[in-house]
Amino acid sequence: MSILEVRHLKKYFDTKAGVLHAVDDVSFSIEKGETLGIVGESGCGKSTLGRTIQHLLPATDGTILFKGRDVTKLSKKEVKDFMKEVQMIFQDPYSSLNPRMTVKQIIMEPLLIDGMKKKEAQDEVRAMMETVGLDARFENAYPNELDGGRRQRIGIARALILKPEFVICDEPVSALDVSIQAQILNLMQDLQEQLGLTYIFVTHDLSVVKYISNKIAVMYLGNLVEYADTEELFANPQHPYTQALLASVPTTDLAKVQEIEIIPGEITSPIEPGPGCRFASRCRHASEKCTCLQPELIKSGESHQVACHLFGGQEG
Ligand SMILES: Nc1ncnc2c1ncn2[C@@H]1O[C@H](COP(=O)(O)OP(=O)(O)OP(=O)(O)O)[C@@H](O)[C@H]1O
Ligand SMILES: [Mg+2]
Repeated sequence: MSILEVRHLKKYFDTKAGVLHAVDDVSFSIEKGETLGIVGESGCGKSTLGRTIQHLLPATDGTILFKGRDVTKLSKKEVKDFMKEVQMIFQDPYSSLNPRMTVKQIIMEPLLIDGMKKKEAQDEVRAMMETVGLDARFENAYPNELDGGRRQRIGIARALILKPEFVICDEPVSALDVSIQAQILNLMQDLQEQLGLTYIFVTHDLSVVKYISNKIAVMYLGNLVEYADTEELFANPQHPYTQALLASVPTTDLAKVQEIEIIPGEITSPIEPGPGCRFASRCRHASEKCTCLQPELIKSGESHQVACHLFGGQEG
């Protein structure tokens, strides 16, 4: 059984301009101990997907099976337990950490809220600081007194203090210097092995995702357009969007893709999008069919799925 299985998940937002399809019919599964990388340009729905899985946002439709149970249908008490098991690590540890609390207080807070006695919680915090490589002398420091790498170690310690099984990492190294990035990525891999964690790793950096993930999901405007083992995806990208990202992008940083217009053509609006493939307006292979029928994600290889009319004999 997969630790997480997402089926036809939708998250829509009502906006003044209309209904925004941030996550639109996304399905995938993750095995225990794996890392699933989620990539795609800014605004494609990566963070919304993570927040919906973690129950921070209610799903519009679809199911989220965590260890076989549908998370969208839990009671209040069950949600509380679920949210302990699934934690998040954020991009900017600075804005996600309370600047008026000390390192010790920040890491301890989830334990106290959970009802642990202060004495016991203090011991847990000391052990966790050691686990994430934070020297005990920083216990009474404030986040702004520490550098970016150490601040992210606090974020990681706080996320892990309740012993979750599943961690959703939203751009956890994007705000860090490259040299520090490697340290934090290594730490996260060590912790994964030590603690048997499963990760969703959201990033716009292809080199980071290649390094850390077993599998990769490529998102485009709320849709999952390709899903494959990491090596397979880099060796044999099938979706024209993935191909364009991997082949012609001089930078591995997807945040820069829109800026430098590597992929020409108009980007479809996520607000009440039309019936066709959302990438059609930028795709050099697009046919009539692509503009009127949305391709489904289908198996296209041993460990490979793609949503494109060029595959699976779906051409008219
Ligand atoms: N609370 C909200 N209300 C309305 N629209 C939202 C809300 N949160 C996100 N969106 C919209 O949903 C879409 C997906 O946003 P999301 O933040 O998930 O993208 P992302 O892939 O994480 O982008 P980035 O790489 O910039 O972090 C965007 O069009 C965004 O404007
Ligand atoms: Mg985001």
